Amino acid sequence: MPDFTWISVDDFRQPSGWVRPEAGQARARAYCEMLERGEILFFSEPPFKLPAEDRQFLLAQQWAELRMHKNVSYRPGEDVLRGVSGAGANVDRLQAILRNYSAEVIAFLQNFLAPYARDWIIDFSSFRPFDEESRGLPLHKRNDLIHVDAFPSRPTRGGRILRVFTNLNPAKPRVWNTTERFELLARQYAEDAGLQRIAEDSWLSRTLQDWGGKLGFRGMGRTPYDMFMLGFHDYLKENTAFQKECPKIRMEFPPFSTWLVFTDGVAHAAMSGQYAIEQTFLISPQVLVAPEQAPCRILETIAGRPLVY
Ligand SMILES: [Fe+2]
Repeated sequence: MPDFTWISVDDFRQPSGWVRPEAGQARARAYCEMLERGEILFFSEPPFKLPAEDRQFLLAQQWAELRMHKNVSYRPGEDVLRGVSGAGANVDRLQAILRNYSAEVIAFLQNFLAPYARDWIIDFSSFRPFDEESRGLPLHKRNDLIHVDAFPSRPTRGGRILRVFTNLNPAKPRVWNTTERFELLARQYAEDAGLQRIAEDSWLSRTLQDWGGKLGFRGMGRTPYDMFMLGFHDYLKENTAFQKECPKIRMEFPPFSTWLVFTDGVAHAAMSGQYAIEQTFLISPQVLVAPEQAPCRILETIAGRPLVY
């Protein structure tokens, strides 16, 4: 059976930050390492400001009427809200709440995981108002199948996907299944998912990458690593034997708890839960404190070739 669950953080809290500021630097590094090894860091309440009136607004809306898509997403860099149509005061308010939320999470991580703030890309945040149970999404978009994250439009080029989640549901937990660590999954399934083929196709991928970069196409700066991870996401979701038989750890994140996880390395499925808010960061390989634990490094070792250039 897999041997991990979450690690509760009790030496950092809102609004004061580190309980022992003089140890903050060392603790930040230690937490980075835990995350990179595949641990989930857990806070029983958000370690950043999330005003009660904002939470209530998010819970009170009739989301189906706002014609929402899979989730509402917010791009902090451009101040753009996506996934909800219509105009008006409610949409403006929603954007203001996400703008605020995003700024709070960024300020929190600049302190809590300070080593990463030197070189990260602040990715999207999202609000997830639908119940994960019975969503009826197409297979590759289903959240209730165990998978690792990879984004078609935002290649990480060996960097890592860090996500901060908060369960906003006042009564129900958000339930996840996780399974074995990335290295075990990769050793078992990477070959079948096409790792060798992608690694050996370096000429084609290098050419595509060069042209994509020159022409400025989004998503074309994909390295063989990015291509493998996109494929691995789909491969795991399509693999019914894996979904059925893999060892599972059920995690119930209680109302208002917050958890941090590298979702490119920790395979996960959201089984049930409604109303979560989340901010994503892409962490550059240069600032990882345990680079040998990164999926990219693990896959390169298995393939015997570089996957990023
Ligand atoms: Fe995911």
